[in-house]
Amino acid sequence: MRVVIIGGSGHVGTYLVPRLVAASHEVVTVSRGRREPYQAHGAWAAVEQHTIDRAATEAAGTFGAQIRELRPDAVVDMICFTLDSARHLVEPLRGTVQHFLHCGTIWVHGPSAVVPTTEGQPRRPFGDYGIQKAAIEAYLMNEARRTRFPATVLHPGHIVGRGWAPLNPAAHFNPAVFTQLAAGAELALPNLGLETVHHVHADDVAQAFECALTHWGAAVGESFHVVSPAAITLRGYAEAVAAWFGQQARLRFLPWPEWRATVAEAEANATWDHIAHSPSCSMAKADRLLEYRPRYSSLQAVYEAVQWLIEDGRVALPER
Ligand SMILES: NC(=O)c1ccc[n+]([C@@H]2O[C@H](COP(=O)([O-])OP(=O)(O)OC[C@H]3O[C@@H](n4cnc5c(N)ncnc54)[C@H](OP(=O)(O)O)[C@@H]3O)[C@@H](O)[C@H]2O)c1
Repeated sequence: MRVVIIGGSGHVGTYLVPRLVAASHEVVTVSRGRREPYQAHGAWAAVEQHTIDRAATEAAGTFGAQIRELRPDAVVDMICFTLDSARHLVEPLRGTVQHFLHCGTIWVHGPSAVVPTTEGQPRRPFGDYGIQKAAIEAYLMNEARRTRFPATVLHPGHIVGRGWAPLNPAAHFNPAVFTQLAAGAELALPNLGLETVHHVHADDVAQAFECALTHWGAAVGESFHVVSPAAITLRGYAEAVAAWFGQQARLRFLPWPEWRATVAEAEANATWDHIAHSPSCSMAKADRLLEYRPRYSSLQAVYEAVQWLIEDGRVALPER
C-alpha cells in the first residue's frame, strides 16, 4: 500500500516510517524538510520524501490537491490542528483513498470523570487545542459514517521516547525534576500528588497506526485511545523515578496556589493543563479491535526517555 505520512519526521514518524517500510508499504513523507527524525534508520533510504509547507499551501488553497497528486492509498495526517485544516484535506481526497488516519489526542476529553475513560464517553474538552481536536474528530466520524469517507482517529496520550524530554512527575517538562529525584532532593508536588498523567511510547503510537492500517475494516469510522496500559499518579511516578536511582522520594505536598508560586510560569501552566485533565484512558477498544498490544508501560516508556536525557547530559546523576 502507498502510505503518505503528513508530518512523518517527528516523534511518531521516527518509529512509524521504519515499521511501515518493514511491512513492505511504499512510504511517502511530507514535511517542510527542516528536521531529521529523532533516530536515524536505514529504512529512510526507501522513503519518498516531499517538502511541502502545509500552512503556506493551505493558505494558497493547494495543499489537499498536492497530497492527492502523491497518489496515496492511505494518508496518515500527523499534524492537523483545526477543523478548516481537516476539511481542506478531506474534500480533495474523497473517493480517492482507501484509508485516512488522523492523529488526535486524549485532550478531546476534558477533565476525567468515570475512569478509565472510554472512547464512548461524551466529549467535554477545554482549551483551544482539545476543542479543535474534538471538532475534527466529530467531523471525521460524521464523514465516515454518513458519506463513507474512510477515516480513523487515533488519540495518543503523552508521547515519550528517546530524543526529547518526557512529561515529568511534576506534570511539566523541565528535566531538572529527574535530576532532583536522582539526587534524593526534596520535590514539591501539587495537592496530594494523586492527579494522574497517561504516557505512551512513540513506538506504541506507531504500532497503533500500523494496526489500524492492517485492521482497516474495524478501524474505519472509529476513534481509539492510544495509551499505555495504565495511567500513573504524580506521587507514584515520583516514587518510581527516585527508586530507579536507589533513592526514596522525599515529597512535599502543597495546595495548588502555593505550589504554582514555586515554579516558573511556563511550568505552572503545563502542570495545570495536565492535572486539570488528569487523564486515565482505557486502551481496551484498541486492544479488542486493532490488536494493539503496547510494549511499554508508562514507567518503562519514561525510563527509556530518562536514560536518553542522562546520555545527553540533560539529567545529572549525583556523585557517588
Ligand atoms: N506530543 C504529545 O505528547 C502528543 C500527545 C497527544 C497527541 N499528539 C498529537 O501528535 C501529533 C504530532 O505528532 P508528532 O509528535 O509525531 O509530531 P512532531 O514531532 O511535532 O513532528 C511534526 C512533523 O510535522 C512536520 N511539520 C511541522 N509543521 C509543518 C508544516 N507546516 N508543513 C509540513 N510539515 C510540517 C515536521 O517536520 P518539519 O519541521 O521538517 O516540517 C515533523 O515531520 C499532533 O497531531 C498532536 O496533536 C501529541
